[in-house]
Amino acid sequence: MTRILIRNGTVLDQRGERRADVLVDGGVVTAVAPDLSASADDDTAPLTVLDADGCIVSPGFVDLHVHLREPGREEAETIETGSRAAALGGFTAIVAMPNTEPPHDSLTTIEFVRAQARRAGLCEVAPAGCITLGRAGEHLAPLGELAAAGVHLFTDDGNGVQDPALMRRALEYARPLGIVLAQHCEVASLTKGAVMHEGSCCSHLGLPGWPAIAEELMVHRDIELSRLTGAPVHFLHLSTARSVQLVRAAKAEGLAVTAEAAPHHFTLTDELLRTFDATYKVNPPLRTPDDIAAIKAGLRDGTIDAIATDHAPHPPESKEAPLDQAPPGMLGLETALALAITELDLPIADVVAALSWKPAAIAGLDARHGRPVEVGEPANLAVFDPTATWTVVPARLASKSRNTPYAGRTLRGRVRHTVFGGDAVVIDGVAQR
Ligand code: DOR
Repeated sequence: MTRILIRNGTVLDQRGERRADVLVDGGVVTAVAPDLSASADDDTAPLTVLDADGCIVSPGFVDLHVHLREPGREEAETIETGSRAAALGGFTAIVAMPNTEPPHDSLTTIEFVRAQARRAGLCEVAPAGCITLGRAGEHLAPLGELAAAGVHLFTDDGNGVQDPALMRRALEYARPLGIVLAQHCEVASLTKGAVMHEGSCCSHLGLPGWPAIAEELMVHRDIELSRLTGAPVHFLHLSTARSVQLVRAAKAEGLAVTAEAAPHHFTLTDELLRTFDATYKVNPPLRTPDDIAAIKAGLRDGTIDAIATDHAPHPPESKEAPLDQAPPGMLGLETALALAITELDLPIADVVAALSWKPAAIAGLDARHGRPVEVGEPANLAVFDPTATWTVVPARLASKSRNTPYAGRTLRGRVRHTVFGGDAVVIDGVAQR
């Protein structure tokens, strides 16, 4: 852990915005005030100076939804490469989805993921546990044992829990354990063989469709199960206008529901599938301009709490397969901030809230991440230039995979430095590990 001085930036956190330098020492913030250069120089210990001219200095970002692929599919991503992509995207903590091989349904796998993340040392990786054994939707995973080991978020992501009785039972356990169940909302019998959103574009192309109702039925069911059990439910990657409406109404009733949306669901439409390019295949699928407008409105009024990437790396050979055989998913970690700044008409404070302290609270990571930038707080920080433009070049991404749908797009907003655990893990857009 080094001493770091972040100079000339604008600090932005849940307490507001102010011009200040930030001094970090021994893993914590030790001073926040204008012109700290002189006092920092008084100390003889080595000092790393990070220039933040024109930049926002905020709590580090927290991604609720990342597929790291390790263990089992290291050809697509590893915990190290995914952590590096996260750090470059300004994230200091990410929740690792459990659809690995083996999945996160045992302490052994959870401990393995944590150990690999510690070794990489680029960000905190919080493995999500499975709700059901093997994500097979038949028997509950050892929720109590995993919760005792510090797992906070549980999901079968990639699959929704189909059986309402099993979901109800899981929620009944979740409440006393203080854990959160996160649902991938998809009624599987309605999406068999689907490759894209069910709508006019899909009919025109003659491809099997993934209807909005397949998501909305499960959102509705789990809102009711949350009401019944009193346990919180987090809705992963909401994609339809009606889903947003259902969550908005549930929140208005005071139910314990939260929701996230992925950047691709507020930036890209199903029309892109006309290219038959599997880069645009994702689950849930890209939808319509009306859905995009609803997701944006949900982010604007707080119905959708968090922007989460659903970073889903796949190697080129699998994405070059025909649409019906190619796996769904897109990269997200290195483009999330820029897409939010470029495409959402939101005050920058709201963008940072949706990327930082709001997801930190949902993930139960808020003791260390998404903290105000104040003396004594853990030094997990993002420093980004909200006006800098850059062009997405897949070959330059740190992820092991290349399946970004934004290749060649020029975006606004760039991460300059990331400080994790008191170390500068990204300096001037370059990963230090
Ligand atoms: O597009 C997706 N990809 N959606 C999911 O739910 C799973 C993910 C993956 O693991 O590739």
